[in-house]
Amino acid sequence: MDTVILSDSEADLLKAAELIKNGSIVGIPTETVYGLGADAANENAVRGIFAAKGRPADNPLIVHLADFSQAVEYTSEIPELAWKLAEKFCPGPLTMVLPKNNRIPMVTSGGLDTVGIRVPSHTVMHRIIELSGCPIAAPSANTSGYPSPTTAQHVFRDMNGRIAAVVDGGQSQFGVESTVISFDGKDAVRILRPGAVTREMLLEVCGSVVIDPAILHEVEAGAKVSSPGMKYKHYSPKADIIMVEGSIGAFTELIGRSGGDSVYSLIFDGDEEVFPYRHLTYGSDSAEQAHLLFQKLRELDELGAEKVYVRAPSPEGMGLAVYNRLIRAAGFEVIRV
Ligand code: TXA
Ligand code: MG
Repeated sequence: MDTVILSDSEADLLKAAELIKNGSIVGIPTETVYGLGADAANENAVRGIFAAKGRPADNPLIVHLADFSQAVEYTSEIPELAWKLAEKFCPGPLTMVLPKNNRIPMVTSGGLDTVGIRVPSHTVMHRIIELSGCPIAAPSANTSGYPSPTTAQHVFRDMNGRIAAVVDGGQSQFGVESTVISFDGKDAVRILRPGAVTREMLLEVCGSVVIDPAILHEVEAGAKVSSPGMKYKHYSPKADIIMVEGSIGAFTELIGRSGGDSVYSLIFDGDEEVFPYRHLTYGSDSAEQAHLLFQKLRELDELGAEKVYVRAPSPEGMGLAVYNRLIRAAGFEVIRV
């Protein structure tokens, strides 16, 4: 199969929607990262997503809708708090885990009796959902374990020959995947994966917001997790990633002792003024770092980097999402200097 690249013209979006309606898989842009979209109610199409990514069958897919009110069609119960959150954060980078009904097949939910519901804000994605009339199941469009794609070209590189088409909707705005939450009682939620909707933002609507321990700490083999994605190695380029906490001065000394120009470093914008070794930079605040991280990890692979030392981002606000992706890419290997 040749993978076609489609534009964001109305004619091409109609083509993408037709492909999805007919059971094919299409790479689609969202405001977070690109997704691999198929009709969430079509079991064969959904199996095709798992096969194209090489994804474990027990890792559930998020279902994307054009409007949160459509969630009543695919869930058995929607807490009052979910409606309040939807009012504030939908459309946008928030996924709510809710009890599913039988219109969502078990293949889509990875065998769970819940489903993650998300209403993307990207106009192209929104239009494709509308034109297809389908709930669209879409994981990030990377090969399983690899950094998520933030451009159509990244999707093409990972998926060429495995999917029908990719729609080019430009570079993803946020650059990290949506915040995933579950409900912990009447007024409380739990963050299962941090994203651009931060704990502080959720606290404007919720009485309590718990950060699941698996976001910052490795889960032990066989331990029970709140979200299957927590069990798997994620976001890793081919290079060995080592996260380093400490000042740029201490970081520079460490690199001097650890190989200097024979390793790669990923540092903050501005650090290059005092850092003498070979490097890439990934922004200077959390939003920029989120926007650039996956792209830079992919670039490091293209450069042939084998070992990469990364300056640890601040884990505050949206930085928690960046920190979480990096610590997983590093296999929880952190050096403090
Ligand atoms: O921003 C995003 O969420 C992107 C775009 C394409 O929408 N999608 C995405 O999907 O990141 P994926 O499949 O790469 O990551 C979904 C994560 C996984 O870690 C999965 O385990 C978790 O969400 N998840 C999905 N449904 C769940 C459920 N019912 N219960 C618990 N965790 C769930
Ligand atoms: Mg993913």
